[in-house]
Amino acid sequence: MYVYDEFDRAFLAERVAEFRDQVGRRLSGALSEDEFKPLRLMNGVYLQLHAYMLRIAIPYGTLNSHQLRRMAHVARRYDRGYGHFTTRQNIQFNWIKLEELPEAMAALAEVGVHGIQTSGNCIRNVTTDQWAGATPGEYDDPRIWAEILRQYSTLHPEFTYLPRKFKIAITAAPQDRAAIKVHDVGLRLHRNEAGELGFEVLVGGGLGRTPFVGKLVRPFLPARDLLSYIEAIMRVYNQYGRRDNIYKARIKILVHEIGAEEFSKAVEAEWEAIREGALKMTDEMIAEIRGRFLYPDFATLADNPPELAEALKDARFATWHANSVHTHKVPGHAIVTISLKPVGAPPGDATADQMDVVADLADRYAFGEIRVGHEQNLCLPNVAQKDLPALWAALDAAGLATPNVNHVSDIIACPGLDYCSLANARAIPVAQEIAKRFSDLDRSRGIGRLHINISGCINACGHHHVGHIGILGVEKNGQEFYQITLGGRADEKAQLGTLLGPAVSYEQVPGLIEDVVETYLELRAGPQELFIDTVARLGVEPFKERVYAAH
Ligand code: HEM
Ligand code: SF4
Repeated sequence: MYVYDEFDRAFLAERVAEFRDQVGRRLSGALSEDEFKPLRLMNGVYLQLHAYMLRIAIPYGTLNSHQLRRMAHVARRYDRGYGHFTTRQNIQFNWIKLEELPEAMAALAEVGVHGIQTSGNCIRNVTTDQWAGATPGEYDDPRIWAEILRQYSTLHPEFTYLPRKFKIAITAAPQDRAAIKVHDVGLRLHRNEAGELGFEVLVGGGLGRTPFVGKLVRPFLPARDLLSYIEAIMRVYNQYGRRDNIYKARIKILVHEIGAEEFSKAVEAEWEAIREGALKMTDEMIAEIRGRFLYPDFATLADNPPELAEALKDARFATWHANSVHTHKVPGHAIVTISLKPVGAPPGDATADQMDVVADLADRYAFGEIRVGHEQNLCLPNVAQKDLPALWAALDAAGLATPNVNHVSDIIACPGLDYCSLANARAIPVAQEIAKRFSDLDRSRGIGRLHINISGCINACGHHHVGHIGILGVEKNGQEFYQITLGGRADEKAQLGTLLGPAVSYEQVPGLIEDVVETYLELRAGPQELFIDTVARLGVEPFKERVYAAH
């Protein structure tokens, strides 16, 4: 865990006091909604379809149990008893009353949690692998570098009014669990042949209206030069990014229009001028941040303890273990994923009681640490294997042990028409209907790894372009329709999906998805061939033929 200091605490308290005053002026009518808007957005407060919504950042997805418990308190006391974890390692509260927002924010600020820069044209929450620091084979803990960027970018005066919002993601493991290729800047930490630590830098990825996979602009940036190089990128973007047209304002459009090579040249020129300046990091600075990440005091344990072997005789536990437990870099320990996708529930929602349960279990079995991943699930990164049976029993009792991680009912979905003022179509009920069709977990395990992503409009908050099956809500003559894409992926081989065919109605979606899955089962080269690989091998045509023939 990272330990915040007095400076962070004092700053947050001041910000809450300032916002309390702004809310007071809005309530008295001294500020109109238009005047209030920029002030609230600077604190992560949106106006949704039915109510104000508070978005809270969870830097690099890491939470301690006190913070999660406080979120449970906010959900229970000020909201309707639940919160929604998003694809950007944020949590959203949908129903907090304006007059109570300052109080809720004060409660969160006490534990170092806030919504600053979760909205607006600034550098947003820097995201990374939810398994950071625990997964084997990592080159370094990416959170150290995310924290360096967090400190640098928070309230950076020059980057508060960028042409458009800006998202940075970092991965440091061979498997990309941070979807870096679909971010404005994607950083892959690795070592060069000389063994030095550095970043591969990708720029111009992103989804939304004009989706792109990020382009390589620098294969190796020495790690200590991270800030000056990011600053150079930001300066180029700030100067050349389009401010005349909101749809062309993201850095991806700039990179696309001038080409990655030209863009890279402009950045390198800017960087040359500043690389030896104030932003050059010293080893001491990096060590200082590194030193503030406290790691658990792991016991010396062996893999596969007898308690675990015994418990694996229980089929339900064994199924969950096979699905939700992953290898830890320290022997005798494990990484546990907690599915927030019980079949039929809104994806990514956790009730206040569930948050409390997870916080308590983290204290008891996982050194008080919780992670949030971009798939809208939670994770306990550091659990002793001998504790897995007890942990599972407690999760199961709280409805948090659905063994569907990475399977067809582990659906990523944005709020869509249920909450969002920009939506064209529902997303949550579509996810619920599909999950119900695949509620037989044996069947879903037979299907294997399959990611479905749903967005309620072109903004792509549900990352539909990079779903193995992507579903996009569109509106036609006032009715909800859905476009389906196949073959997208958000991992280290990231690519955008291909359109399957004409959009279908709300009622047709679940059946169509079932047909797609059945087609895969018929056409796959064998049980080992994953859905995504079958689509890569055959293209979408065979799917199109069968699926549309049936509808
Ligand atoms: C008040 C609710 C929300 C509003 C108004 C909203 C609005 C938007 C807009 C306008 C964009 C497109 C930005 C652009 O391309 O320039 C966007 C992108 C995005 N949103 Fe949301 N969103 C909301 C909720 C959410 C939620 C709940 C999630 C996660 C489940 C989410 C995750 C994302 C992501 C990941 C993108 C990036 C797509 C990209 O790569 O460009 N948003 N959002
Ligand atoms: S994709 Fe559209 S509908 Fe969904 S949350 Fe984003 S803006 Fe709203």
